[in-house]
Amino acid sequence: MKNKDKLSIYIDSTSIRKRVVQLAKRLNKDYKNKVPVFIGILNGSFVFLSDLVRQLKIELEIDFLKLSSYGDDKISSGDIRLVKGLNSSVENRDVVIVEDIIDSGSSVKFINELISHHKPNSLEFVALLYKKNMNKLDFNIKYAGFKIPDKFVVGYGLDYAQKYRNLKSIYIINN
Ligand code: IMP
Ligand code: MG
Repeated sequence: MKNKDKLSIYIDSTSIRKRVVQLAKRLNKDYKNKVPVFIGILNGSFVFLSDLVRQLKIELEIDFLKLSSYGDDKISSGDIRLVKGLNSSVENRDVVIVEDIIDSGSSVKFINELISHHKPNSLEFVALLYKKNMNKLDFNIKYAGFKIPDKFVVGYGLDYAQKYRNLKSIYIINN
């Protein structure tokens, strides 16, 4: 069914592309001569991950984790479950987690504990977007794209009730 959501552009596709290229430059440098495993957090990160890895010149592997917590709501339930685990081992590997957005921080906290438990050689996070709560995390998000206000955004992989993931830009919805 067609919906009546109101979308206002917040970050256009050109600005996203520029930021992705900048992040990729740092990753190319930091992971030179390494073979990191990039782990995309489904579903939201699939667009960002695919743009990001195509800017990388290093050798790398890709895997996915799927968490669930939001349902179709705009507020995180905080109750995070692992819906799909990894296919590969991360022991002794350089792991780079790729997230679309950090809101409350519960998801990255959950992933940090989960992956750390498997003894990677290193573990870093890339997040395209983050809201103000990121400061409350007790570990560093080394690669962060844009700080955004405490509003719900869609597009470029991000959904509201599973819609709008295909949009090229990022929009604030119903605000
Ligand atoms: P957190 O656990 O509260 O940090 O939420 C992280 C996850 O919630 C992200 O991976 C997104 O899937 C989803 N999320 C958080 N904020 C937004 C938003 O503004 N738009 C769409 N999805 C969001
Ligand atoms: Mg989502």
